Amino acid sequence: MTQVQRSQSTLRVRPLSGHIGAEIEGLDLASLALDNRDNEGFATLKSLFLQYQVVILRNQTLTRDQHIALGKRFGDLHVHPMAKGPEGYPEIFPIEADANSSNDPKDIRGGKRAVNGGHWHSDVSCDVEPPLGSLLYLRDVPEYGGDTLFSSGYAAYEALSPALQSLLEGLTAVHSGEATYRLHYGHQAAKDRSQFGFKNGADYPEAVHPVVRTHPETGRKSLFVNRGFTREIVELSHTESQALLEFLYRHQETPEFTVRLNWTPNSLAIWDNRCTQHRAIFDYSGLARRGERVTVKGDRPYFSETASAVEWGLVG
Ligand SMILES: [Fe+2]
Repeated sequence: MTQVQRSQSTLRVRPLSGHIGAEIEGLDLASLALDNRDNEGFATLKSLFLQYQVVILRNQTLTRDQHIALGKRFGDLHVHPMAKGPEGYPEIFPIEADANSSNDPKDIRGGKRAVNGGHWHSDVSCDVEPPLGSLLYLRDVPEYGGDTLFSSGYAAYEALSPALQSLLEGLTAVHSGEATYRLHYGHQAAKDRSQFGFKNGADYPEAVHPVVRTHPETGRKSLFVNRGFTREIVELSHTESQALLEFLYRHQETPEFTVRLNWTPNSLAIWDNRCTQHRAIFDYSGLARRGERVTVKGDRPYFSETASAVEWGLVG
């Protein structure tokens, strides 16, 4: 447990693994949500978020407005193109699994299975400017199960040999939303596509990002490919691309680069989408897990030895 002295209270930080994740005690998020108040507290929270990549704070009482206000302290909020928020709150991404939820794969299209995030991904990496990060507040959690796995793209990158690092630094990859949109938002997507003249998936969100990205705030390099959205490495043949991507996915799933977050009621986790990926574990069939997420807009990913922005081309 690391103790951080602040002027009014002592904040405690408990790292959860060797490379990623920390639990923070001694911060009241509702008071941090109010703009221009307790700036020292927010600066500390932001710096721990950057260092640990995902942080969790337990026993927090947050209204929906306070949750949104806290998110806005990190930056402008992202509105998910497909997931609908509650009335009047388009920036809220609901996370809902009720007692009828199922972890049976055959229920995935039937609305019974809790489908959000059940595979390794970084959020909406098919966007040209993927989100900076997310703040997920879970009010109801199952008696057992429902953990979330996170993996550090920094740790995965830094563990590679210099020869492979150098190869990857010259590569870019296509990230596509098509598979996710078809699977999770099937009926709605079909309706919306016809409304907006979408054809054959050509208008699903798609972007090209560097395989290794430089974090715009820390300057550290991170792997930035994930099973959920990455489809192809542009500069390689299809066969080379599939083999290399599969290696990189498995490499990032190495347990030493990950942390497993256990939720308790009224916990809020904040993760940095620029240098991590995550996977929600659906092992709580028949139990409820409910909460809400706000997502902070991010920058266009770039790779640079000197951390200066580089423009990358769009696909299609
Ligand atoms: Fe996610």
